[in-house]
Amino acid sequence: MSRPIYLDPSQPIDRRVEDLLGRMTLEEKIGQMCQYSWVSGVVGEYELMIREGRVGSLLNVTGVEEVNRIQRIAVEESRLGIPILFGLDVLHGYKTISPIPLGLASTWDPDIVRRVSSIAAAEASAEGVKWTFAPMVDIARDPRWGRIAEGAGEDPYLGSVMARAYIEGYQGGSLSDSRSVAVCPKHYVAYGGAEGGRDYNTVDISERTLREVYLPPFKSAVMAGAKTIMSAFNDLNGIPASANPYTLRTILRGEWGFDGFVVSDWNAIGELINHGVAGDIYEAAEKAFKVGVDMDMQGNVYQRALLKLVREGRISEGEIDEAVRRILRVKFILGLFERPYADPEEAKRIVKCREHIEAALEAARRSIVLLKNDGGLLPLSKDIDSLAVIGPLADDREAPLGPWSCLGDPGDVVTVLEGIRSRVSPKTRVLYARGCDVDGESREGFEEAVRAAGESSVAVMVLGESRGMSGEAASRAYLDLPGVQEELLEAVYATGTPIVIVLMNGRPLSISWVAEHIPAIIEAWLPGIQAGNAIADVIFGDYNPGGKLPVTFPYTVGQVPIYYNRKSTGRPPSPTVKWTSKYIDAPYTPLFPFGHGLSYTRFEYSDLEIYPCEVGAGDTVTVRFRVRNIGGREGDEVVQLYIRDMTASVTRSVKELRGFKRITIKPHREETVVFKLTLEDLSFLNHEMKRVVEPGGFMVMIGSSSEDIRLTGTFRVRDYVEFPWR
Ligand code: NOJ
Repeated sequence: MSRPIYLDPSQPIDRRVEDLLGRMTLEEKIGQMCQYSWVSGVVGEYELMIREGRVGSLLNVTGVEEVNRIQRIAVEESRLGIPILFGLDVLHGYKTISPIPLGLASTWDPDIVRRVSSIAAAEASAEGVKWTFAPMVDIARDPRWGRIAEGAGEDPYLGSVMARAYIEGYQGGSLSDSRSVAVCPKHYVAYGGAEGGRDYNTVDISERTLREVYLPPFKSAVMAGAKTIMSAFNDLNGIPASANPYTLRTILRGEWGFDGFVVSDWNAIGELINHGVAGDIYEAAEKAFKVGVDMDMQGNVYQRALLKLVREGRISEGEIDEAVRRILRVKFILGLFERPYADPEEAKRIVKCREHIEAALEAARRSIVLLKNDGGLLPLSKDIDSLAVIGPLADDREAPLGPWSCLGDPGDVVTVLEGIRSRVSPKTRVLYARGCDVDGESREGFEEAVRAAGESSVAVMVLGESRGMSGEAASRAYLDLPGVQEELLEAVYATGTPIVIVLMNGRPLSISWVAEHIPAIIEAWLPGIQAGNAIADVIFGDYNPGGKLPVTFPYTVGQVPIYYNRKSTGRPPSPTVKWTSKYIDAPYTPLFPFGHGLSYTRFEYSDLEIYPCEVGAGDTVTVRFRVRNIGGREGDEVVQLYIRDMTASVTRSVKELRGFKRITIKPHREETVVFKLTLEDLSFLNHEMKRVVEPGGFMVMIGSSSEDIRLTGTFRVRDYVEFPWR
């Protein structure tokens, strides 16, 4: 008997899909729409379901043998042999763990993001995981929200550039490549806008905010070739995101032409009942299905409800076919029918190989942001006679892995203490004191820490948040250093020994006392397995830091939300005028602004040219300037281009990032930087939600941060232009 068309790789994918669909029973079709998490205890039941063709995807199955064992059941023991699509949260590394995404965004370097995600893809793929629930592209303007750690921060432009970089990294040149994995940008949409920063909370925002702030990174991800997307948990303007016809149908499929499949977040379909928009699983399934949620993650709602809904005529089999078609297409594109199994040899060869670990180190170095360095305390000399290394995170192997650290092993983590010890000269006396826990009340360790600092020339204090304090379901109402860490710091400060603070945290912290009193502050985020090496490289100047903040640091939680691309208001804040938009008991400015980050060298900006000075439809504005390294050592600068539409028919932000570049310049050398702005870069949504550019003046601001603007210029737009898309 000849081989069926769907098993013939020489046939076009669409034909294979149709052939397979034609052979499937309704139960098998519904099976493809169901995803389960592998948890011990119910494994036997799942195996039976796989054999019966009632499971399309599994998540959280790990280990080459286990993946292959289960896949064999699907491929060899089920009627049609449709392979399982194994998914996992591979967010910042599979086993070779690089910095958390917020740290990766601090690199402002899409190349390194591409590199570490292609490494993560290769490792995951070799072990049979062909689908990552990443990147997390939610914009987050509220650091109380723990999931801010998983994304690229507050800015839609930076977020969109990073979204594309992740996708190009994970998916490689072609999804059919054996080293590629399919991405699943999440959580669609506006999940990061949770009221009060409380995870899973309600989001009520204007259409303008939805389209200008939260949607752009998703659009960028879809345009970059994402073939799956995850619908979010949250209520969006009264309709849960996983049952939202406007965002899922009108925008995602209608406006953007997304042709992949949508998977719900974990039981988000079942939770429609809790939201109060569905009375039972049937209504929940119907609502989610009708707006285009194709796969049910873990909810077991589709499995229980869809058959009945079809039998009752509430859903047609044709509609089911549409959803299944989308899922099968991805399986075919990934080459799962040809290569269903993990490759243990390849896994052994590449997982945590030297090249991957070096990339994780490079990413960690690039992610580090030097927040403050008064008096040039940093870098320290490796010949320093004595050094105290203090703090609950100084020798911690868990925190650096961060949330969603996949199969990261704390045993692979290089701690800051280890990094420092391996760098200093044999004569240097290194004293270590933990001082206190990350959280908790005990001050028992203070005395030892104070003694160590008193006996040392400099104290390096590693403070911040533990691994579980950011990520999912880890919202905080306070943004201070947790526990008694700040008290420990004050006690050490009282010794008079100069202090270098290394922060490890998954969100901006309100550290105004630290910023005021401590001369040197390094923001390391949660840097992954190479934490200690990267941080020690920065402390001793083997690496000149060049990262920049992708998110604003507030003085106090009461300023939240505080972000750089705010509107002007009718009464722009002024330090000297009372009746302006500000606080009477806290600054209106940030502690550290978006885009901020220092270097061990200094850069001078000059010779701004903007041409032509007037542009019309179809034209491009060229922005050109020079950056000179006027310090004594090679360094990286992230040059940032902001625009402001001076007057428009709707209010515009005081600044909007529209370009950036991380450049490396040798001492006393200079580089010419060129940016091109298209009219679309200048466009916005008018009161009818049409994308337009209006005639009038624009300001261009070139800076080293959103506040440290070094050059400004203007140009004019002559024509009114309307774009056919939003
Ligand atoms: C729930 C989380 O919200 C989502 O980000 C994740 O991908 C899934 N669980 C699967 O682990």
